[in-house]
Amino acid sequence: MEKQVVVVTGGAGYIGSHTVVALHLAGYTPVIIDNFSNSKPDVLKGIAEIIGEKPQLFELDCRSKSDMQQALENCAAIGEIAGIIHFAAYKAVGESTEKPLDYFENNIGSTASLLGAMSELGVSNLVFSSSCTVYGQPEESPVDELAPILPAESPYGYTKQACERLITDSFNSSMSLSACLLRYFNPIGAHQSAAIGELPIGHPNNLIPYLTQATAGLRGPLTVFGNDYPTDDGTCIRDYIHVMDLARAHVAAIKWLQSNEPSCEAFNLGTGQGKSVSEVIAAFEKANGISVPYAFGPRRAGDVVSIFANAEKAHQNLGWKCELSLEEALRDAWKWQQKLSKA
Ligand code: UD1
Repeated sequence: MEKQVVVVTGGAGYIGSHTVVALHLAGYTPVIIDNFSNSKPDVLKGIAEIIGEKPQLFELDCRSKSDMQQALENCAAIGEIAGIIHFAAYKAVGESTEKPLDYFENNIGSTASLLGAMSELGVSNLVFSSSCTVYGQPEESPVDELAPILPAESPYGYTKQACERLITDSFNSSMSLSACLLRYFNPIGAHQSAAIGELPIGHPNNLIPYLTQATAGLRGPLTVFGNDYPTDDGTCIRDYIHVMDLARAHVAAIKWLQSNEPSCEAFNLGTGQGKSVSEVIAAFEKANGISVPYAFGPRRAGDVVSIFANAEKAHQNLGWKCELSLEEALRDAWKWQQKLSKA
């Protein structure tokens, strides 16, 4: 049987690398397109430790439509392209407020080039890596996909809204396209083997990488950004999802695109459980039997008070739901940090 290729832009990144593993386990042939702008080639070795082979890689910048077109032609020579998963993007909220131009150019530019290359080659199945950030500051949680798209809190958030719009407009045009817009809540953890995980370059912006580095003694104490929010314990509430559960959702989305009439649908991907920052710290300490050095500090600009998912639509349509607990995610995150600390 001809190979079923899934092209993964940003496949060397955090969620991308875990998705490459999940695709392989599901019988697909993942092919990575990445320029290592926020990842390292060593990630491929980690993937190979798990799946027994290094996935094929095309090293290029997704903003170049001609390079993308050439890469897709090369992918088509490997097997039938079942779909494309587009992760490649900048993703730091704070940085985006400093470098809005870079974010607009890279995130929106690469999505436009990819759509152009797909159109030229007649590839129609697209899974887009979006975010719950598209909901802005939601009025209530859980949020479902019908919640309004409110003004973005950051240029990063705006690029996700704009890319969703670009994909939706392309679907509504004469272009042959079928798309899933996957809105992630807060992905955390690492592959259970600790062969791959999150590799923040420089100062980590997100909660779990900072927390694990602080606990490993590599950084000063974690600052909890604000304990005067209108929540039970005063800290912000998020929906933390194990990255391997998230990875499996991408496989389910590809399968769904392959077996349904063309459409363009958004799906929330979260656990449905809101956890406060203080609850996450306590759960980490319990799961790993270690105390986390932390102190309460001022609020961080742009933070949403509380957001967690209603992920029923993904369950109903994609047949997907989370299987791993917060504790498992926090254990895997710590196992990964310990491996990094030894390296
Ligand atoms: C944000 C985006 C999300 C994006 C992600 C990637 C929103 C609503 N969400 O998630 O779309 O994919 O960034 O970067 O914009 N915290 C601390 N101390 C720290 C770090 C974080 O207390 O050192 C707190 C934050 O205030 C927040 C929670 O931990 O309450 C989670 O923060 P973080 O991991 O940065 O993710 P989000 O900001 O939720």
